[in-house]
Amino acid sequence: MKRLLFPILGACALIASTPSSRAETAPATTPFPTADLMRIGVYYYPEAWPEDQWARDIGNMKKMNLEFVHLGEFAWAFMEPTEGHYDFGWLERAVKLCSDQGLKVILCTPSPTPPVWLTQNHPEVLMVDAAGRRMLHGTRQQATWSSEQYRSYVGKIDAELARRFGHNPAVWGWQLDNELSHYGKEPDYSEASQVKFHAWLKAKYERISALNRDWGDSFWSQMYQNFDQIRLPNQDELVAQLNPQAVLDAQRWFADEAADYLRFQAGVLRQYCDPRQWVTTNFMHMFPMVDPARSAQDFEIITWTHYPAHGNLNEGPLGFRLGGAASMSFYHDYTRSLNGNEGLMELQPGQVNWGEVNPQPYPGAVHLWIMRAFAAGAKLVCSYRFREVLAGAEMYHSGFVGTDGVTPTSGGEQYAQAAREIALLRQRYRPGAAMPAAYAARRTAILYSIDSRWDVDNHKQSVRWDTVEHMLRYYRGLKELGCPVDVITEDKDFSAYPFLVVPADQLVNAKLVRRWQDYAENGGHLVITCRTGQKDRRGHLWEGPWAAPILDLIGAKIKFYDTLPAPYVAKVEADGQSHDWFSWGEVLAPNEGTTALAHYADQYYAGGIAAVTRALGRGTVTYVGVDTRDGALEAHLLRGVFTRAGVAVRNFAPDFLVDWRDGFWVATNFTEKSQPAPVPAATTLLAGGRDVPTAGVTIWQE
Ligand code: GAL
Repeated sequence: MKRLLFPILGACALIASTPSSRAETAPATTPFPTADLMRIGVYYYPEAWPEDQWARDIGNMKKMNLEFVHLGEFAWAFMEPTEGHYDFGWLERAVKLCSDQGLKVILCTPSPTPPVWLTQNHPEVLMVDAAGRRMLHGTRQQATWSSEQYRSYVGKIDAELARRFGHNPAVWGWQLDNELSHYGKEPDYSEASQVKFHAWLKAKYERISALNRDWGDSFWSQMYQNFDQIRLPNQDELVAQLNPQAVLDAQRWFADEAADYLRFQAGVLRQYCDPRQWVTTNFMHMFPMVDPARSAQDFEIITWTHYPAHGNLNEGPLGFRLGGAASMSFYHDYTRSLNGNEGLMELQPGQVNWGEVNPQPYPGAVHLWIMRAFAAGAKLVCSYRFREVLAGAEMYHSGFVGTDGVTPTSGGEQYAQAAREIALLRQRYRPGAAMPAAYAARRTAILYSIDSRWDVDNHKQSVRWDTVEHMLRYYRGLKELGCPVDVITEDKDFSAYPFLVVPADQLVNAKLVRRWQDYAENGGHLVITCRTGQKDRRGHLWEGPWAAPILDLIGAKIKFYDTLPAPYVAKVEADGQSHDWFSWGEVLAPNEGTTALAHYADQYYAGGIAAVTRALGRGTVTYVGVDTRDGALEAHLLRGVFTRAGVAVRNFAPDFLVDWRDGFWVATNFTEKSQPAPVPAATTLLAGGRDVPTAGVTIWQE
């Protein structure tokens, strides 16, 4: 059986001030004052255009109401044309043109694109793929950040940049690298990486016997005698299936190594830059091998890149033009929850060029995406890119202006419209607006564990299981109820939320289960879903009943689980409604005092229990053991949790998202029909209408 070490997760567009921080007034020193709401800007590559066009282009950005320009991320060959000879004059002139227009600048470190002289002189800095081939110059992300040699070159160029621009008043902040990854060729099997993996394992296990025990190496004579004998798990070097504990450790190492590299670059910049300049990188949630949570305390803001419409067909009939409402919103709620400040560093301006098909976005969709970012609390939205290129790898990718360099595209006009609207909203902003009580009463956290996501995906037990879709079924259900959602990591305080959903959190420890128990006993309403608690943090099953540590908490035993091969579909029923399922179903045996909520309606275990609930202390615990085809059962069960808790909910159409941010209500319609905005009769609208059309946005203040 062949499995990828780092499975590339599907098309799910692939994730935070907390709701309370959305309402708080940020301290005066913050680079992102609440009163600024959200700033909008664009990428520009002056090095790719004749210098006599720069002033015109930057002037046109200003005319489009933009507030910042993003420069320099791939420009190493221009910044250091030959080793040790730096040329920043051109960049200074570009920054000056932005500043003359009153535009702020985000500068980037050029580390994703080493110049050819560097990799020619030092081929050992190049990454190695699974087949053992050293990647070469000719595109990007070909270097390994585990190479000390590479880090020393990156450190030098970063220091030069920071010395030159760290006190420049026009420079607002910095982006490190670009979408840190190897675009699917992870993890990098170079010698530098193998050595670093060994050091990480030594630090973790100290003794090789401890590693052999935790990796289950007694099976198949895998016993290692010392750490240096270990290789990064690589299916191309191995005959049978990979060791799951080795894979999980390799994923943890890779994410730690990526975070360490980002921390290293941030440290170099911070030695020279004014503290008012902030630092971030642009994460790709689609590639979960680089974990933004590991950098949450290293950056003032966490940003990500999002291309919602690239022909994806799994997000509803118009998903290929509108993108996925739930996945987009989920990742906003995740990113915002990491350290309170989130932004979209790249957002599609129109057609892209790298999908299998590259359709036009729905009219108004670009504006819809910008305003969804606003609704979710984003502090900045930036778009890739201003000008459509005439040559090179990204031809056919749209920009704010067309191939003539001056005519605004529909996407460019939608950015201009959004920027104009934000400027108007700023005038209406009232400091200290408190989150409306009925909305706050529905505050819900979804607990997100990257370790559990990796581990479930490493061994799904059914190709029909999709971890992200599983989480999104609950997310959609919560948004239909009109809940403000934070997608939180385990270090956060659960007690801030009346409702907590724990989806498929496979790897648990006693401390976490105790925290869940305390949460419910103290009045929280806890919803736990299938696959949770099956393993310990090493990835071992329990020597005891299935999912042993959570059984007391959920008030039931898990008799067994089932998965159905395609094309089989089975039925589960709740409150007279029947639902299809096939990817995962657990048959539960409730203890006394636990109530059954859903039953299997067919298969040899017809009548078996699929979901249960119980009171615990002042709160409740609900366990859902089945993953359905469309999530309607999950949404129904969530509604029951809120109703029994006596909390009023909304009844929005799926993918019609309504949220509150800094005093403004924002309704965004990703459905194929017009939807009524829940606006009280006497309220004046600030944007849009009372009926929100497909791709429409309505904004009001109460
Ligand atoms: C992003 C990447 C950009 C550009 C863009 C094209 O993922 O960060 O540099 O390649 O895709 O859509």
